[in-house]
Amino acid sequence: MPAVVMAIVAFCSSITLIPLSSHCLARVGLRGRDLLKPYKQLVPESLGIVPACVLIVLLFLFTPVFFANHLKTHASNLQPQFPHHKLSTYLSALLSLQTATLLGFLDDLFDIRWRYKLPIPLIASIPMLVVYFAEGGITDVVIPLPLRQLLGRVVHLGPLYYIYMAMLSTFCTNSINILAGINGIEVAQAVVIAGSVAINDLLHLPLSHGFVSHLPQFAAHWSSTALVGPTTQEQAERHLFSLCFMLPLIGASLGLLYHNWYPARVFPGDTYCYFAGMAFAIVAVLGHFSKTLLLFFLPQVINFGLSTPQLFGLMACPRHRVPRYVHGTGVLEPSRAYFDKPPAFYVSVPLRVLSAVGVVQLEVGGNGRITCSTNLTLLNAFLCLFGKMSERQLASVTVVFQVACSVLAFAVRYGLAGLVYD
Ligand code: UD1
Ligand code: MG
Repeated sequence: MPAVVMAIVAFCSSITLIPLSSHCLARVGLRGRDLLKPYKQLVPESLGIVPACVLIVLLFLFTPVFFANHLKTHASNLQPQFPHHKLSTYLSALLSLQTATLLGFLDDLFDIRWRYKLPIPLIASIPMLVVYFAEGGITDVVIPLPLRQLLGRVVHLGPLYYIYMAMLSTFCTNSINILAGINGIEVAQAVVIAGSVAINDLLHLPLSHGFVSHLPQFAAHWSSTALVGPTTQEQAERHLFSLCFMLPLIGASLGLLYHNWYPARVFPGDTYCYFAGMAFAIVAVLGHFSKTLLLFFLPQVINFGLSTPQLFGLMACPRHRVPRYVHGTGVLEPSRAYFDKPPAFYVSVPLRVLSAVGVVQLEVGGNGRITCSTNLTLLNAFLCLFGKMSERQLASVTVVFQVACSVLAFAVRYGLAGLVYD
């Protein structure tokens, strides 16, 4: 219940405070040109700082509310054992969230280089990894049935699992930041992911199990109990913790989305991407559902996979890879990267495969060598596949794709997983 109140307060605060703060940010130089519009008017940037501050302040204010029962019994000496581990989990999450927001804001201010900003989320995640360890952090991975003969039932990953979790925070923050550049898309993808995580949390709460017992038989068959199976008290608490972050995140983000959707009056900036990405990494690590989270990040995984040749310097990576606005027509076409010298075979072969699939367009010189390729992003891939479209249409296609991937993720998590795990 407090999480629902927080979500409503977060939405109202965010939607009201953004127009009030936008000119303050623009005044100190935080504004950018909307690259896909014919006009050159600058748009206030880094407005992600508003939902981030709203969520952080709400989490501070609601700390005594979340622990009210324990505080009451502790004060009356009925339960001397205050759950310090839960408080440390909560505080470590807040610390990581604040650090990510600070990093995002510094990036907006100083345009930090990739080589410096990549490791920072790793450092920001250390407090929560220590808490994970102190909680007896499980580092075992259960192997799917078909691979058990080869690898056994469980593989103990030990320190490798901590590296994976630290990398998850870097991936979540940066993958949202690179699926960006058209109005509304950074925030909309985060809202869909947060909504999916929240639904997944609700499926694990005893509240939904109680509700299920009142359902007719056919509905109960498709219910959370049937899907998830019995949930332990510990699992339920972890998902409740996640819900307390996700619901207000959705509220605060919807407030920003209202101002950022096409035509954008404000930009979220890197501040929002880092803040939202870290919120997802925190709940997934501390809630022990990092693999499920990665399923919800399928579009970001595809965008990252497509981008690797440009991100790792194997081919030219222009400062902005967003699609190109075609003047006078109001539609977007894929943007391009040009090759100064012929690409090596380990770049040209994948490019030709992607071109055959239709997600990349190539220009080939007289000698058969690739001279130019469309930039390797999901947005450009949509334009290659479906043809030119307006910015609003492209944003809608991307959001529909994100929702479709979430539906697929639920099918894999609760359908397919049941077949390959006992
Ligand atoms: C990432 C992408 C870059 C993309 C940029 C767009 C990589 C490696 N980097 O860079 O290709 O162009 O995001 O955000 O993939 N902007 C718009 N419309 C929007 C949102 C942003 O025109 O709806 C423009 C504005 O000029 C804004 C700028 O993008 O000032 C923000 O870019 P920034 O977040 O600094 O780019 P990066 O995150 O470094
Ligand atoms: Mg950015």
